[in-house]
Amino acid sequence: MSRAARLDSAHITPSAHYTGYVWYRHQLAEAPFVTAFGRLAHGLLAPVSWGARAAFGLDVERFLLQRHLLIDACLREAIEQRGVRQVVEIACGLSPRGRRFCARYPDLRYLEADLPPMAARKRLLLHEEGWLSARHQVRPVDILADQGAHSLSALFSGLDAELPVLVITEGLVNYFSLPLIETFWTRLAAQLRPFPSATYLTDLYPDLPEHPRYRQLRWGIDLVGRLTRGRYYLHYRGDPAIVDGFGACGFREVRVHDPKELATAPADAWPALVRVVEARI
Ligand SMILES: C[S@@+](CC[C@H](N)C(=O)[O-])C[C@H]1O[C@@H](n2cnc3c(N)ncnc32)[C@H](O)[C@@H]1O
Repeated sequence: MSRAARLDSAHITPSAHYTGYVWYRHQLAEAPFVTAFGRLAHGLLAPVSWGARAAFGLDVERFLLQRHLLIDACLREAIEQRGVRQVVEIACGLSPRGRRFCARYPDLRYLEADLPPMAARKRLLLHEEGWLSARHQVRPVDILADQGAHSLSALFSGLDAELPVLVITEGLVNYFSLPLIETFWTRLAAQLRPFPSATYLTDLYPDLPEHPRYRQLRWGIDLVGRLTRGRYYLHYRGDPAIVDGFGACGFREVRVHDPKELATAPADAWPALVRVVEARI
């Protein structure tokens, strides 16, 4: 991996504090998940969010909730209908999902993973609250590492290869160029192949030039890129291209979920901008 890619990747981490605060604001997380930086960032960005909502009807928190609730719904379905008992959430940041699902499903094993500094922080948070346990742990990982202690193979070596597995990434993939993230997806598909069944869930922002708010969205993602001192990319021109792209990375069955499927998700005035991809091996 190039030095530039590694630097971009480290700069993504602060955004996890912002989303962590959003999950808390919407009663999806308990207070220990809030950081001073998350609260500050949310306050500083409030005028921009208000402006986008008032002027263009684009509600950043609604987009975030749509993806989060849709991933939750797909995960619930996998646990309750398809017997998934081990979950790996990569780029977990300060997400409360592991905590919520471990509390709800007492026999679920949940492995959270992130870049080493964020993983250490999350582990400490869970430890201090007494939430860390043999079935709920945090490990360091770097999705760009193809070998070594932070690689996917090191992360997956701790799983039970006899049981179905489900992997999640949220708020991660659009920070990387398509060739870079497709390299990760291809490596992930190879890691998942030995399991009796394996599912990957991720949110994804496609490139939809025909969307009535496309120009404003591009302006918004340039802002996200500048704030994270990296770039934010849109991947694939619509749902059929998503299915083809994941298929080429080694996933056998690909479903693209739209937030409108969710009765509980906040409704949009426009066609949704985010998708949740459910890709199976
Ligand atoms: C926008 S935050 C999302 C956090 C969480 N999933 C959520 O939705 O609240 C992006 C996360 O990706 C992590 N990340 C960035 N680059 C990574 C990499 N190369 N490997 C693993 N995680 C990475 C960051 O540390 C950060 O926690």
